[in-house]
Amino acid sequence: MTSQPPSKSKSFADVFGGSAGAVGAAPGRVNLLGEHTDYNDGYVLPIAIPQQTHVAIRAIIGDTTTVYAADLERSVQFTFASPPTEQFATYIYGCLVEARIEGINVPALDIHVASDVPMGVGLSSSAALEVATLRALRELLDLPLDNVRIAQLAQRAEINHAGVRCGIMDQMASSLADTTHALFLDARTLHVQLIDLWPGTAVLVLDSGVARSLATSGFNQRRAECEQAARMLGVAALRDIDADRDAAKINALPEPLRRRARHVVTENARVLRAVKCGDPREFGALMNASHVSLRDNFEVSVSQLDWLVTSLQAQPEVYGARLTGAGFGGACVALCESPALTRIGEMVLSAYLAQGLRGRVLVPPDRAGQVLGC
Ligand code: GLA
Repeated sequence: MTSQPPSKSKSFADVFGGSAGAVGAAPGRVNLLGEHTDYNDGYVLPIAIPQQTHVAIRAIIGDTTTVYAADLERSVQFTFASPPTEQFATYIYGCLVEARIEGINVPALDIHVASDVPMGVGLSSSAALEVATLRALRELLDLPLDNVRIAQLAQRAEINHAGVRCGIMDQMASSLADTTHALFLDARTLHVQLIDLWPGTAVLVLDSGVARSLATSGFNQRRAECEQAARMLGVAALRDIDADRDAAKINALPEPLRRRARHVVTENARVLRAVKCGDPREFGALMNASHVSLRDNFEVSVSQLDWLVTSLQAQPEVYGARLTGAGFGGACVALCESPALTRIGEMVLSAYLAQGLRGRVLVPPDRAGQVLGC
């Protein structure tokens, strides 16, 4: 309905007066392996990042919900009958509508959002916002929603209200993962298992500075291509296709469906191998192979990401590197020897910036909670 930019870093009390009735927090995530597999009923392996989104809420009388986003310095109002047009508020609106459809009596709310999850780079800032909103609502209304149900409602919010036909990886990761384990998820059964990372290893995430938006990128098109390939192969989802057993059938598909299906089936196989593999070098080789497949078969890389990934892979202390998230720009992830993490991040980034490109180290965040770079 309305949108105005108030001044920076206001607290809940500054904006609304008084205190919040409940708070919820949720992290962003970086996906280590298993890209574009979740909406094919496949396997993924994300890990939570240190950055989180915090949502504070209070029930109010009336119909109008107000959302104040501290980082964007924006205030937006909406009612159930009059949805917001601003993207960030759409995620919140979607969560509240989906909660209502679930039978929950959702009142009008004052909502304060503060987040240090980097936006628009493939680290699931939208899922963190959705999950934090639903956690705050759960606390406020004492709702019997478990973390999986919250992830499912959050995914519906994104699909039905933000226009992205996403899988469930991001919301499950934000709702169930932590920063010290990878979360193995079977996106069909929603079976999860926390996997220990090797001692002495750590995750590095670099932003290519190439902006991407899932709603406008080829994300929905890729998903449609996968679904078409599954239909032509006579299965419910590409998860049901085996790279070796069904090689001839995959090869018989027309392009680009052949390459899209090849990516998904080999990526699923890589995740299944990764959860069993005994050392980080083997894991890193699977990450490297994933990048090649995303670049050549799924065609979601860009030259800047290829450059960063190649540079990272050239460092002896890096086990493996790949683009992460949906692609079309955004970030890349590397698994490194932890003592070398900061040095490698700064070295690769400075060579990248020297070409006149924009980029940042996103994980680990620097001590002030800010990301490094420009
Ligand atoms: C986005 C979607 C996820 C997943 C990834 C690609 O992050 O939200 O569901 O499909 O892209 O792996």
